[in-house]
Amino acid sequence: MFLNDASPYLAGNFAPVTEELTAFDLPVTGQIPEELEGRLLRNGPNPIDPPDMAHHHWFIGDGMVHGVRLRGGKAEWYRNRYVGSQNVTEKLGRRTPKPVTANSGPNTNVIGHAGRTYAIVEAGTKPVELDYELETIGTDGFCDSLPNGYTAHPKYDPLTGEMHAINYAPQVLMDKLEYVVVGADGTMTKSLQISAPTMPMVHDMGLTQKYAVVFDLPVAVDLDLAFSGAAFPLRWFDDYDARVGLLPRSAATEAEIVWCSIGPCYAFHPLNSYDLDDGRVVIDICRYDKLFDNDRNGPFRDSLPQLERWTVDPKARKVTRDVIDERFQEFPRVAGSVLNQKHRFGYTTAVGTSLNQWAFGDTIKHDLDAGTSQVHEHGAGRGAGEPVFVSRSGGTTEDEGWILTTVYDATTDRSDIVILDAADISGAEVARIELPARIPHGFHGNWVRDSVTPPPAS
Ligand SMILES: [Fe+2]
Repeated sequence: MFLNDASPYLAGNFAPVTEELTAFDLPVTGQIPEELEGRLLRNGPNPIDPPDMAHHHWFIGDGMVHGVRLRGGKAEWYRNRYVGSQNVTEKLGRRTPKPVTANSGPNTNVIGHAGRTYAIVEAGTKPVELDYELETIGTDGFCDSLPNGYTAHPKYDPLTGEMHAINYAPQVLMDKLEYVVVGADGTMTKSLQISAPTMPMVHDMGLTQKYAVVFDLPVAVDLDLAFSGAAFPLRWFDDYDARVGLLPRSAATEAEIVWCSIGPCYAFHPLNSYDLDDGRVVIDICRYDKLFDNDRNGPFRDSLPQLERWTVDPKARKVTRDVIDERFQEFPRVAGSVLNQKHRFGYTTAVGTSLNQWAFGDTIKHDLDAGTSQVHEHGAGRGAGEPVFVSRSGGTTEDEGWILTTVYDATTDRSDIVILDAADISGAEVARIELPARIPHGFHGNWVRDSVTPPPAS
C-alpha cells in the first residue's frame, strides 16, 4: 500500500510557524552556566507556502533557523528567521547582500565555521551564509571555492580544524558522489569524485583518522519519479547492492576506496566512527530496516531506528552489525573532543509513534564501554530534539559538560531550551529557558561559540 496521507508530517508541532520573532532577556529557571557564551542554533523545514497536503514531504520546504544567544548566565535573545531563498526573498520582499541562488533555502543544519554561520542542506544546494542575528547574507560556497552542492552533515575534525563532507547532487553530479574537504580557513582544499551509478541518497558520512566513510544504501533516485516532477524523487530499492566504502582521507583517486558489503538497511546518522588497531573501523549508527518504501512523505512509517555498532572489515570486505540498544532513537551526538576518535559516551533522542506521528521523547545517554544507559525524562507531553553536547572548559573527562536541547511542550504549545549536566543526565535540569513560541519538529543544530563565530563589533 502506498501511503499518501501526509498529515502526520504537518500536524501538531510538525506544522510550520508563520511569524519571525525577536525576544530579549528570556525567562530562565535554574542557572545557565556562566561560561556558555555563544548561540544555540537549530534549522528545520518551515514551508512559507501552503503545503500540498497529499504530496508534502517532511524534508521539503523553506528552512527556518532558530537561535538563542547565551552570555554571562543570561539568555539574551531568541530569534527565528527564514533562511533566504529565491522563493522566500521574493515572498517577503527582501534583498540580500549576496545573490541567493537556490529556489528553496537550506533547511537541515546550521553550523559555525571560520568565523561565519551557514545554513546547509544536501542534494545540490550551496551553503547560505547568515549574519550573527540570523538574517540571510546569501549564497556562499565557502568563499566561492565549492564547485557543486554540499551536505547537511559535514564532519568536523577537532585535530585539524577541517570539515569533511560527502556530497551528492543528481542534477549536477549525476551518477557521482563528491568528497570535499574545507580547511580551517573556510575554503575548499580537496575535491574527489566517486562513481555511484545508482544515485544514492547519501545523507551523512563517517569520518575516522584514516578514512572518509561512504554510505551507499538502498534509498536512491528513481528516474521515473524524477522525470515526473516529484518533489522527493527518492525511494527504497529491494534488490540493491548495499555497501559501505572506506575512502582514505589521503586518496588521490577513487580507485583507493574499499567497498564492504552490508545487508539491506538505511541510516541517516552515525553517532561517531573510529579506527581499530587491526585495521577495522567501528561506526555506531541509528539504523532503519527500511525507508521510503510505502511511506513517501517522510521516514516514520516503514520502520523506526535502533542504535547499532557496525564493524567494517576492509580485508574481508564485509560489515558486521550488532544492536546496541533496541529502543527507538535518533539524532545521535558525541562530545566534540572525541569526534572521529574512540568515544565512550553517546547521546540520542528517543522516538516512537503516537497517533500516526513520530513522537519525540526523552534524552538518552549511552556508556558504550560499560554497556549501560541513563535517561532524562522530560515529562508528560514534552519531547526533546537533538542533544547537543557542549564541553566544560578545562574538563578532563569525555562527559564533562552539558547537553543543550530544544523541548516541545504539547500542553503549552511552546518550546524551551533545556540544559542538562552531561555527566548525570538523569538529574534535575541545570536550566530551562522559556521561549516565546514553539520550534517545530525539525532537524539539526549546533552550539556555536562566540570564539568560533563572533558577534559584530559594537
Ligand atoms: Fe540529518
